[in-house]
Amino acid sequence: MDKICVTGGVALAGRVETSGAKNAALPAMVASLLTDETIELENVPPVRDILTTRRLLSEMGVQAEVREDGSATLNAAEAGGHEAPYELVKTMRASILVLGPLMARFGNARVSLPGGCAIGARPVNLHLMGLQKMGATCEIVHGYIQASSAGLRGAHILFDTVTVTGTENLMMAATMAKGETVLDNAACEPEVSDLAELLRRMGALIEGDGTRTIRIQGVPRLHSCRHRIIPDRIEAGTFAVAAAITHGDVLISNCAPEHMTALLLQLVSVGAEVDLRTGCVRVRGKDPIVSRDITTQPYPGFATDMQAQYMALMTQGDGTSVITETIFENRFMHALEMVRMGADIKIEGRRAIVRGGKPLSGANVLASDLRASASLILAGLVAHGDTVIDRVYHLDRGYHRIEDKLAALGAKIERIR
Ligand code: EPZ
Repeated sequence: MDKICVTGGVALAGRVETSGAKNAALPAMVASLLTDETIELENVPPVRDILTTRRLLSEMGVQAEVREDGSATLNAAEAGGHEAPYELVKTMRASILVLGPLMARFGNARVSLPGGCAIGARPVNLHLMGLQKMGATCEIVHGYIQASSAGLRGAHILFDTVTVTGTENLMMAATMAKGETVLDNAACEPEVSDLAELLRRMGALIEGDGTRTIRIQGVPRLHSCRHRIIPDRIEAGTFAVAAAITHGDVLISNCAPEHMTALLLQLVSVGAEVDLRTGCVRVRGKDPIVSRDITTQPYPGFATDMQAQYMALMTQGDGTSVITETIFENRFMHALEMVRMGADIKIEGRRAIVRGGKPLSGANVLASDLRASASLILAGLVAHGDTVIDRVYHLDRGYHRIEDKLAALGAKIERIR
């Protein structure tokens, strides 16, 4: 298994390009199941979860091609298989996103029920509740969701918890349902709006994406289109924190600063200088780093996918900060690894109390999930000596060659194959 070795002590400098958003590209690829015509995508990040999605769709009979240049071509004319097998779903829970499109176009689906993961139980009850409201029957049989319907019909669906993939799944299901569907307390992440934009290009009638209420008028069929995936605000955010924590000066290009407001405002409040330009943002880290609290929230609040990276930054803060995680019940695994590097972090339920200003020392650490692995690289960038991160397969799920991008900014970092 690959490892990554980081030697701390370099202030990062230069320009780094952001890839397309993993969490926008996944539902976009799956949306190809909604039509028998061709979908052309651009700016698709060649990360492992994208390759898993391509494999999942291919097993369903979709002609799916993803190229190194970020372009992808998908055609589901021959999609005879309506099953997402356990072997694939267990490696990527976002496979649940095939449920909505399969139900909309074929009226049946068999999808392995995603189990829990390192960051939480992550049930899919709201996805099933919504489909049942649209007239489907959903049963759990031998670990699989078996869903069927003689034709989905529009419904008013109120989410008691904001769910990103739940909103995306039911938005796709509603595109070809009879009548109007209203999604209330919907997620308004930029990735949800990007999917709505793609579906509109395919002929869907969708309004209100980006707000808590989305309205979808069902249409008989959808057609081909071309769509460019939005930049990855979490990858760009990771580079922004890398600049702040190393007191560096980094220009992050090909990103969408307007999708990163909560994070960028937070970086300004901890003392970093942030200059916004169209399609890019310059971040200059300053000393001292001021300790400030955060509470993760659904968009437009502070993203849970930036919580671990921010915790690494707070280990270098000038005081005490409290990090409250409200989205996932078990998303502090990275804290214990940072403590092994000398950080002072106490976990109290969903709160982490970080006493900053403790110098970090390099150590062997273990990545438990995608964003935790990124946070350990950030901690390694300011630790004395070498930090060796194990299980970086987590990292490869959502970052494209992050070690090369950081090395181009001056970081002493390498992958140990
Ligand atoms: C999406 O996951 C992202 N994944 C996650 O990014 C991200 O952390 C999360 O949204 C929150 O922003 C993708 O887009 C592929 P949720 P998702 O449904 O949709 C509860 C990364 O690092 N819930 O919005 O699975 C759930 O348990 C990943 O790239 C239910 O109770 O998250 C959680 O507490 C990690 N029942 C909360 O809602 C349901 O049916 C939000 O989860 C669905 C969700």
